[in-house]
Amino acid sequence: MIKRNYIVGIDVGTAEVRVGLGEPRPDGTVNIIGLGLNPSDGVRKGVIVDLDKTVESIVAAIEEAERMAGVKIDSAFLGLKGLNMELINNRGVVAVTAEDREIREDDLERVMQAAKVVALPMDREIVDIIPREYIVDGFEGIRDPVGMLGVRLEVDALVVSSLITSLHNLLRCVNRAGITINGLVLQAMANSEIYLSPDERDLGVFLVDIGSGTTEIAFFQHGKLQKMKVAPVGGDHITTDLAAGLRINHFKAEELKKEYGTVLLSTADSEPKIEITTVGSNELRLVSERELTAYIEPRVNEIFQIIKEEMTKMGWPYLPPAGVVLHGGVSAMKGFVDASRHFFESDQVRLAEFETVGIQNPTYSTVVGLLYYVQRYQPRMFIQERVKQTKKRGPGLWQSLKDWIADIID
Ligand SMILES: Nc1ncnc2c1ncn2[C@@H]1O[C@H](COP(=O)(O)OP(=O)(O)OP(=O)(O)O)[C@@H](O)[C@H]1O
Ligand SMILES: [Mg+2]
Repeated sequence: MIKRNYIVGIDVGTAEVRVGLGEPRPDGTVNIIGLGLNPSDGVRKGVIVDLDKTVESIVAAIEEAERMAGVKIDSAFLGLKGLNMELINNRGVVAVTAEDREIREDDLERVMQAAKVVALPMDREIVDIIPREYIVDGFEGIRDPVGMLGVRLEVDALVVSSLITSLHNLLRCVNRAGITINGLVLQAMANSEIYLSPDERDLGVFLVDIGSGTTEIAFFQHGKLQKMKVAPVGGDHITTDLAAGLRINHFKAEELKKEYGTVLLSTADSEPKIEITTVGSNELRLVSERELTAYIEPRVNEIFQIIKEEMTKMGWPYLPPAGVVLHGGVSAMKGFVDASRHFFESDQVRLAEFETVGIQNPTYSTVVGLLYYVQRYQPRMFIQERVKQTKKRGPGLWQSLKDWIADIID
């Protein structure tokens, strides 16, 4: 087995499980050496509904990444999108301990521990604490106080909590797939690493991820995540509408949506040339793009409406200075950006550009962002893993074969 220094990220999405494996580079970027993908059969609207199927999907995606990279994966960082996440603003205060009053790393550690003290309902657990700014002797807006002199150190932090049950089901699945979890990373943080520029994060920008089962609306300003909300709506709803409206099966509806789906009625072709077979009657008929759009457009507008409502609740009834950046599978639909610009009445809405490290398929973007985030910020595991590994994965056929060949060569 080749021994290398590498980091692994896992994104258990509603549509697919993705695994990324990369070698950290000294410049803070990551060299991606392994990727794995498998349909996510046990997840609905971002929540695990079938443990066994989810474990199988994770194992398959992990094994694909292992084969590509030629390494065995036994631990990973996990991305969290979760519907059940909540952010609370909290402050922590400590006295600086060193005699010379210089703020050190362990003061940061203590002040973060102090910020962790919040009253949470019994069914919630803290998964992360994100410092927004430090305050030294009353002076606000400090991003990195280490090395500064002071007596009193405060942190203004975002405490991220999750519903214990849904979180631990996810952790349990990853553990059962034979993986120890190194740390949890909010997907919004991971995605912001590759989709947003530092200037956008400073000025104020919404990063919106429209996935298969969920839509995540995250607001960044002053360089930090400020607010976040995940709504249980996404591309699956569009597919379901299309299937019910045209009376076709879900699989076919998904295929048609991706191939011919467009959001704008005005640009949709009205010639009936797409062949469908209706469920039950087995009747063959031809439909037009326009007919598909008639089912797609209302649902997409509803998703926009939900995004707008959440933005207003976060204090932005109008767009922030750096506008809105859209990503996630649904944003790839034809006409999506034009329709969103029309809806928000602004050209300050753009599609995220995924051009990192030459990987073409944007489905991997979250997992690649996760690796970049881990490399830059080295997040720690905040919660106690109560679930223990119950299953060790065998080496797999491909690995056994490679080990066997290596033995012969030795
Ligand atoms: N070209 C396309 N046109 C229309 N829809 C698309 C296109 N490509 C992907 N989608 C849709 O995007 C969705 C998948 O998006 P994504 O991969 O971001 O979801 P996910 O991360 O698995 O789910 P979630 O984040 O909600 O847990 C599916 O509903 C899929 O049909
Ligand atoms: Mg996703």
